[in-house]
Amino acid sequence: MTGIGIHDIELVTTHDVLDLAALAEVRGVDPAKYEIGLGQTRMSVPAADEDVVTMGATAAARLLERTGTEGIRSLLFATETGVDQSKSGGMFIHGLLGLPSAMRVAEVKQACYAGTVALQSALGVIARNPEAKVLVVMSDIAKYELGGSGEPTQGAGAIAMLVSANPALVEIEPETGMFSADVDDFWRPNDSTTAVVDGALSLKAYLDALTGSWDDYLANGGHAIEEIDRFLYHQPFTKMARKGHRELAKYAGTALSEDTLEPSFIYNRELGNTYGASIYSALTSLLHHDEELAGKRIGFFSYGSGSTGEYFTGVVRADYREHIYVEPIQTELAARNTITFEEYAELHETVLPSSEDVETPRVTKAPYRFAGIRGGARQYEATA
Ligand code: CAA
Repeated sequence: MTGIGIHDIELVTTHDVLDLAALAEVRGVDPAKYEIGLGQTRMSVPAADEDVVTMGATAAARLLERTGTEGIRSLLFATETGVDQSKSGGMFIHGLLGLPSAMRVAEVKQACYAGTVALQSALGVIARNPEAKVLVVMSDIAKYELGGSGEPTQGAGAIAMLVSANPALVEIEPETGMFSADVDDFWRPNDSTTAVVDGALSLKAYLDALTGSWDDYLANGGHAIEEIDRFLYHQPFTKMARKGHRELAKYAGTALSEDTLEPSFIYNRELGNTYGASIYSALTSLLHHDEELAGKRIGFFSYGSGSTGEYFTGVVRADYREHIYVEPIQTELAARNTITFEEYAELHETVLPSSEDVETPRVTKAPYRFAGIRGGARQYEATA
């Protein structure tokens, strides 16, 4: 076996998009605060018939078209935006895609960190059985109160990745550093569709988890900072990654270039926060836009409020460029439907109670849609 890691990756977003300049105008804010201060340009907004399941299913279907399902015996679904308190969102995807029944399907939660739990679990499964492959799906909708401080950092998107031995894209190295602390920086009560956030505390908790997990990474045999060529950070907004990079450089007592961060920002500036998918959207953006990655070591800082951080590294394969697929996400980003502030506010405020049967309007052009609620159960269907 020649290493374990990410063999293939696919990024998907929503049908609708809100320009942050339109939001700034309504909120009476200088648009430069969002564009430069937060480093965000637009945010993806789910249409009435889209959610984390439809985005995740679309990402997984695109990826499986290339890889097939041979050897996949686990589907791990990571989300903050679960659609059911009991049933895994992954089970709906399993059904929509007609995946084999001989498969483990489960959902993982720890705010924006859940995707990394799924990835690390997948690496463990493959360490036990190098023939195994794991489908990891991370799908989230970042939603804050209308008019609140977090509003311009909303967003939506999903990542599907195939984790296997001898991966075509990035081999994940075994050294890893962890940091957990129980803190009320960001959470979402069971009866709320929007997150509650203490903005200033969330920034501090993020940076504490970064330096804490970095210390643990080094204590567990991690590479010296000089041996890391590119740096990826969880990106609730892209400026946060820049803040993290500056903090890590100061903490490690070294100078780190900020120019190498730029290629990892391109997609997330357009998507907004995608919570668990965010650092892997950043990885996709880096793979698609940095042309000198072959053999380079990437540092990953994954963070989930509440809070857990993990620092780990991966090395990009020499021939990775033959295995990246730039066209689907770039076409999708360009084709999004720009909505007005009023349309955004209406979508934001629409909450469907599970007690009422409802059919959703047909909007999405994606291959799967959320059709509505019947008998308390969510209904999904293929659009074609
Ligand atoms: N032109 C250019 N820049 C401007 C500007 C202007 N006209 N006006 C303000 N700015 C700059 C500010 O100087 C500031 O930059 P610095 O941070 O570099 O100083 C930046 O814009 C933001 O301004 P404020 O700090 O005044 O913004 P705010 O208080 O209104 O909100 C926030 C910022 C607290 C991060 C808010 O967006 C928020 O609550 N977001 C959600 C929470 C979040 O994402 N936290 C991140 C860590 S937690 C995490 O990572 C988990 C997760 O996914 C949620």
